[in-house]
Amino acid sequence: MIINRKFLLTRIILLTTLVTACGQSEQATPAAKPPTQQEVAEVTQQTPQPKPVQVTEDTRQTYQWYCSQCHGIKGKGDGINAKLLTVPPRNHTKAAYLETRTDEQLFEAIKFGGLSVGRAPCMPAWEHTLEEDAIHSLVRYIRELCDCEAL
Ligand code: HEC
Repeated sequence: MIINRKFLLTRIILLTTLVTACGQSEQATPAAKPPTQQEVAEVTQQTPQPKPVQVTEDTRQTYQWYCSQCHGIKGKGDGINAKLLTVPPRNHTKAAYLETRTDEQLFEAIKFGGLSVGRAPCMPAWEHTLEEDAIHSLVRYIRELCDCEAL
């Protein structure tokens, strides 16, 4: 009986201490404040932002190296192989057509080939030759050639 009482007393003391401690710690926590504009700016600066896709000298060289034999040195669809193909290579300076295609469609055509976007299979797939970054920059380069964006 004595043991039981002692036990009960210990539990009450323990509980009271806990409740007090919790109450105190809650009071001690300062109310959450929204971050200041400066704090937000600092975090944004530290977080790596996705690089905007750019057309570099590498992009132009890649185009000359892999695409120009069909699409032509200036992208007009008049490369040295053009007349041997059953479907003529697309003229990349023709805004009227390229405005009807989204960047994703152009990306897919280059990565997975003409067939993947309902076009001719003589437009090869470049997924095993070119990195995705290079393909994205080729899409930007084609947008430069046609001086157009998707409508
Ligand atoms: C072997 C010749 C050949 C080569 C090399 C080639 N293409 Fe093509 N490409 C074609 C042909 C042909 C078409 C037209 C397909 C059609 O209209 O059905 C085409 C179409 C395209 C299109 C338009 C797809 C659409 O939506 O109509 C894009 C974009 C394109 N090529 C990009 C490239 C890029 C970038 C390269 C180089 C990495 C490249 N091509 C290399 C033959 C080629």
